[in-house]
Amino acid sequence: MKSVWTENVKIKNFRALEGTVSTDVLIIGGGLAGLLCAYYLGEAGVPYVLAEGNRIGSGITGNTTAKITSQHGLIYDKLIRKSGAETAKMYLDANELAVAKWAELCKNIPCGYEEKSSFVYSLTDRTAVENEVSAVNKLGLKADFTEHIPLPFEIAGAIEFKKQAQFNPLKFIEGISDRLNIYENTFINEIRDKNTAITDNAEIKAKKIIVASHFPFINKHGGYFLKMYQHRSYVIALENAADVGGMYLEEIKNGFSFRNYENLLLIGGGDHKTGKTGGNWQALREFAKKNYPEASEKYAWAAQDCMSLDGLPYIGNYSGKTPDLYVASGFNKWGMTSSMVSAMILTDMITGKENQYAKVFRPDRSVLKPQLLVNGVSAVGNLLNFTAKHRCPHMGCALKWNKAERSWDCPCHGSRFEQNGRLADNPATGDLF
Ligand code: FES
Repeated sequence: MKSVWTENVKIKNFRALEGTVSTDVLIIGGGLAGLLCAYYLGEAGVPYVLAEGNRIGSGITGNTTAKITSQHGLIYDKLIRKSGAETAKMYLDANELAVAKWAELCKNIPCGYEEKSSFVYSLTDRTAVENEVSAVNKLGLKADFTEHIPLPFEIAGAIEFKKQAQFNPLKFIEGISDRLNIYENTFINEIRDKNTAITDNAEIKAKKIIVASHFPFINKHGGYFLKMYQHRSYVIALENAADVGGMYLEEIKNGFSFRNYENLLLIGGGDHKTGKTGGNWQALREFAKKNYPEASEKYAWAAQDCMSLDGLPYIGNYSGKTPDLYVASGFNKWGMTSSMVSAMILTDMITGKENQYAKVFRPDRSVLKPQLLVNGVSAVGNLLNFTAKHRCPHMGCALKWNKAERSWDCPCHGSRFEQNGRLADNPATGDLF
């Protein structure tokens, strides 16, 4: 199913790389994180090659809800309690800077960029929202409490961040990509001798390599298969629904989200861990039928997100032992600001500048979190499932049939395969059969 962003977009085609090339930086992955790294490295005068295995923007970027905000759920009160005010403030400031950089970059690119307020609401827990307002204000950003939002149900309260934004991510890529050094259909099969990337038809020697391929595919370092899992979420776009004026997210784990794009209302939700079952489009359609009975569905699509152990992205050195290998992943559904933060931090690291926010996102921070045990138990259970029809080529977990999307999905790290066996989502690097 196609997302609304794919309509009327003409992103230039780029040729595949052939032969042997040398460069300072190889960026693997042509989603927003990779493209923004390319843009800022180019601005800094660093020679680079961006290699995308498919077409740029064809992965998660084309299926996001494209909200540019530092409001990542009700996180700041929790973050202060768990990690301290300094970490929470750095996370907020880094994301607010990302919001500002998006505004600057989108100024000259016709991509439907609009400044909007962002809200997180709760149906039942007014105190949690009030605590978040107080936490965010203490961290230095003005946030407001409200009991009234233009959605068709009562709420206990909502927190508003003003001056956030929304846009069309593929229009943005259309506008920015022709000034970047991109190769498409250039799938990296492996990294050899630390600095040589191998494709079917090319060899790329790079002094430094950024892995921005959604789920990091190099298993030898960093332990990403232990410290990440993936989540699917669903979106429908309705015509003749409502203009809700801003961007909204329910605070609970599987809550709904709302925003407009042109004359459409986008409703997101139905989430579940990849390989498990959840509400999917069905939950959204039932909600739409009840609350917007006059509306008709124009688009439906799904997204897949990498979730970290502690809710913060992994941006920086791929591991403690790989000084010239970098990663940008684990965006926890906040890909727009996290991509920009990745580009800010990695460009500084590569050009030898200190970045004040880098320590919050270090991928080698402690992994001793309860979610690690959950991931481990789930992986062992799936590895020991001997009745499975198909096993995942990534690390051998039992694949589950996804009835709603007609795909084989891996509950361990989220690889997905179409019914005909073709790879749909990594970290697996090859087809199922
Ligand atoms: Fe890792 Fe399937 S994605 S085993």
